[in-house]
Amino acid sequence: MDIILLGPPGSGKGTQAKMVADKYHVKHISTGDILRENVRNGTPLGKEADSYMKKGQLVPDQLLVNIIKDRLAQPDVKGGWMLDGYPRTIPQAEALEKILPSLGQKIDVVLNIDVPDKDLVDRLSGRRMCKCGVSYHLQFNPPKVPGKCDVCNGELYHRSDDQAEAIMKRLDAYHKQTQPLIDYYNKKGITATINGSGDIKKIFAEVSKALDKKV
Ligand code: AP5
Ligand code: MG
Repeated sequence: MDIILLGPPGSGKGTQAKMVADKYHVKHISTGDILRENVRNGTPLGKEADSYMKKGQLVPDQLLVNIIKDRLAQPDVKGGWMLDGYPRTIPQAEALEKILPSLGQKIDVVLNIDVPDKDLVDRLSGRRMCKCGVSYHLQFNPPKVPGKCDVCNGELYHRSDDQAEAIMKRLDAYHKQTQPLIDYYNKKGITATINGSGDIKKIFAEVSKALDKKV
């Protein structure tokens, strides 16, 4: 099954994607995680992306299209994938549509996680991340041992774009550049909207219900 996960910053894309990957045996592909790894490793891509990410802006489309094109051509995604953070603009969605047929792949479902803006700021300012990609929240989803990842025991960190000013810019970029994708995929009749407020497990049950209809 090939799945796209849409939703504003802090809506729980990463949190839900980890659970979906485990249950449905699909590869979780997070463009944010790929970019952050490049920033950490100081690659040319990471150096270019960092200047945009720190400010809460989207990284230019062409860089992302190249990342996705390479990633979806790798053998480990042949059993199915879940894209978290791509596409984020209409041109990225159009590019994906051109890439998929040559790989023998197609989008089965677009899950749109809906959370009001007022909840997102709290979620992002209290988030702590591990470099293995798992995210926690100091209050809503704390790790078992403070400051340590439950999965790999790595040190948790505060993302540089989880500061008030960058959060507001990311929300603005979401509304202007990414939200139009909801309509774009609604017109194709492949979207399922999930209420992303409330308990993480309850939301996952709703996600599972939407995916089970597609299996
Ligand atoms: P990216 O890493 O994709 O960030 P994002 O979209 O801003 O989303 P987040 O990762 O912040 O939130 P999430 O929805 O994954 O929420 P999470 O599960 O962590 O992208 C970062 C940057 O990279 C972009 O700004 C851009 O610069 C660049 N980029 C990436 N892809 C790009 C693209 N395609 N094009 C251009 N640029 C691109 O949850 C958030 C918090 O809430 C956590 O603390 C979690 O524990 C908590 N939480 C989760 N669920 C709940 C719940 N139900 N109740 C309470 N708390 C909850
Ligand atoms: Mg994320």
